[in-house]
Amino acid sequence: MATINNHYLKLKAGYLFPEIARRVNAFAAATPDANIIRLGIGDVTEPLPEACRTAMIKAVNDMGDRATFQGYGPEQGFGWLREKIAAHDFQARGCEVDASEIFISDGSKCDCGNILDIFGNDNAIAVTDPVYPVYVDTNVMAGHTEDANEKGEYGGLVYLPISANNDFTAQIPTQKVDLIYLCFPNNPTGATATKAHLQAWVDYAKANGSIIFFDAAYEAFITDPTLPHSIYELEGARDCAIEFRSFSKNAGFTGTRCALTVVPKTLKGKAADGSEVELWKLWNRRQSTKFNGVSYIVQRGAEAVYSTEGQQQVKGLVNFYMENAKIIRDQLTAAGINVYGGVNAPYVWVQTPNGLSSWDFFDKLLQTCNVVGTPGSGFGAAGEGYFRISAFNSRDNVNEAMKRITEKFKV
Ligand code: MLT
Repeated sequence: MATINNHYLKLKAGYLFPEIARRVNAFAAATPDANIIRLGIGDVTEPLPEACRTAMIKAVNDMGDRATFQGYGPEQGFGWLREKIAAHDFQARGCEVDASEIFISDGSKCDCGNILDIFGNDNAIAVTDPVYPVYVDTNVMAGHTEDANEKGEYGGLVYLPISANNDFTAQIPTQKVDLIYLCFPNNPTGATATKAHLQAWVDYAKANGSIIFFDAAYEAFITDPTLPHSIYELEGARDCAIEFRSFSKNAGFTGTRCALTVVPKTLKGKAADGSEVELWKLWNRRQSTKFNGVSYIVQRGAEAVYSTEGQQQVKGLVNFYMENAKIIRDQLTAAGINVYGGVNAPYVWVQTPNGLSSWDFFDKLLQTCNVVGTPGSGFGAAGEGYFRISAFNSRDNVNEAMKRITEKFKV
């Protein structure tokens, strides 16, 4: 019999969102009349921007004409899309990112996991607690951890606790770590990082030869003009950081799939013989071997995000979800519930009322209000006693969910 990757057996229960879906489906089957409102997974609800749809329809027609038909595209993504991203998302903010350093992919989640392919198995890895579970689980799958303890913490990982006491921004570790996952605006807490905070991380990484994996999937939701959108806004980041971005949340591409990863050509890692190797070359090799690119149609849709109309329509979507976040914050605060985040991020991080555990609050909310959120403990031990509410939904659903929650849980 073929053997398996035993590291998978170390994983705790199911991946968080399928586990939530399992519980919700069971509840829905038992109570078919319940009008369930889903504010759990951060999945968008509003239609794709018109500019993107128009571009995709044109691209479909291109595929129907021998003269404009596209077969395999470049594994790294089409140059016309990469150039626009480099100019609009990076160079316009003073970041030195060249189009050739941008790799188009089908998702940040995939890239956050796949990036481990080009790193060794002996790196010390730091994650915040709570954290987006993909960072942890992909390291478990790759065999970079020991077993989990009863709190769900995996031996071999360095956990950096984040809480209201440190504004949900991790302290720079005292020990040396090689790989660091940072996510700002943060999933799940909705916290943000100032330039000074990120600069401290970059300085640490440069001093220790570490690499920062910077997940900027939610950068479009930043409303405070003083906050950095990219880690490359910080001095020295080209020598120590890889950045992940996505069209999922700003342009509604969760079902369409398009994202990007920036690997600067100045970034180096150490080979077994002690020599320094360009990480760009390894990632380029990895993508060329294991990936055939995002479809031409979808990349044309993503390109339209950078048109004048596309920019306006994406801004409209972002503003819409941020208004939802404000409603969630305001209503829960008025009901005496402590909330964090939701100002520069589409997630509101809620302290569970009456000292309920995260999963107890999840079950209660589902059963009594028919509202789904995400238990904080699903993001790590330090998320216990918290609950994440996503602003990605229709206005009617958000209003209705807040009405139900505040009536039931007024403190
Ligand atoms: C979340 O809810 O945390 C996100 O939707 C997960 C993701 O984007 O993969």
